[in-house]
Amino acid sequence: MAQILSGREAAQAWKSHIRKEVAGRLAQGKRAPHLAAILVGEDPASQAYVKGKVRDCEEVGFASTLITLSEGTSQAELLEHVARLNRNPEVDGFIVQLPLPIHLNPDEVLLAIDPQKDVDGFHPENVGRMALGLPTYLPATPYGMLLLLEHYGISPAGKHAVVVGRSNIVGSPMSILLSRNSKMGNATVTLAHSKTSNLKELCQSADLLVAAIGRPKYVTADMIRPGAVVLDVGINRVDGRLVGDVDFDSAMDVAGAITPVPGGVGLMTRVGLLMNTLHAARHR
Ligand code: GUN
Repeated sequence: MAQILSGREAAQAWKSHIRKEVAGRLAQGKRAPHLAAILVGEDPASQAYVKGKVRDCEEVGFASTLITLSEGTSQAELLEHVARLNRNPEVDGFIVQLPLPIHLNPDEVLLAIDPQKDVDGFHPENVGRMALGLPTYLPATPYGMLLLLEHYGISPAGKHAVVVGRSNIVGSPMSILLSRNSKMGNATVTLAHSKTSNLKELCQSADLLVAAIGRPKYVTADMIRPGAVVLDVGINRVDGRLVGDVDFDSAMDVAGAITPVPGGVGLMTRVGLLMNTLHAARHR
């Protein structure tokens, strides 16, 4: 039976660390870190994510501002909100929740965010800094997974990590972070994707398997090396239930450690964002 890597437990521990940092700042007469979020439209999943982020801010003593804009908001109006947050000295960092409605151009919006306030780490300048190992904001989901591993004392160093999925916000940055010469890096990384021909064999050779495919229960027990650490990034709704990209029940018998869905990586994404916001406040 695999050890459960609980996002709930790790998130609580990291949040209590952040709460203490905030209390320390307040004791020195400094402001609480302030995160703002822009949400465009009425996508229920996005609404739920953003609400969770605001709740997290309250929990750790951050200030937060939620800007909700109607589905019909124009690109120019959205860019004006971004410019206002860039200028606002009270806001340490902010995010524009993705995906945006189809008529809006997310690349242009992300480019308009001041890289110093880009706590999602999505601005090309920050992606470049991450790839070069320079100080920056790390994308929240990969960052959260590293914080989860750190909480459980699992080091990627020397391990063969297989990351399945090459998205700009999860798979690709995770592969870069795991291969960096840094504390939670030093793994030997294979980045696999939909065109990978020997996926099953590759996964079987993974000491650390990151499933970020976006297909329910895609990774089955026969793809997992006995004792491997399995991180499941998937959040798929199937018959009204949330399931991951890993077939959790069968994987439990083979893996050495595994994240559940829900209650795993998702909660750590939110911790990644809080940590970035704390760093943003420190740097201002
Ligand atoms: N949509 C899904 N994940 C994310 C995220 O980490 N940041 C933003 N801005 N939008 C998202």
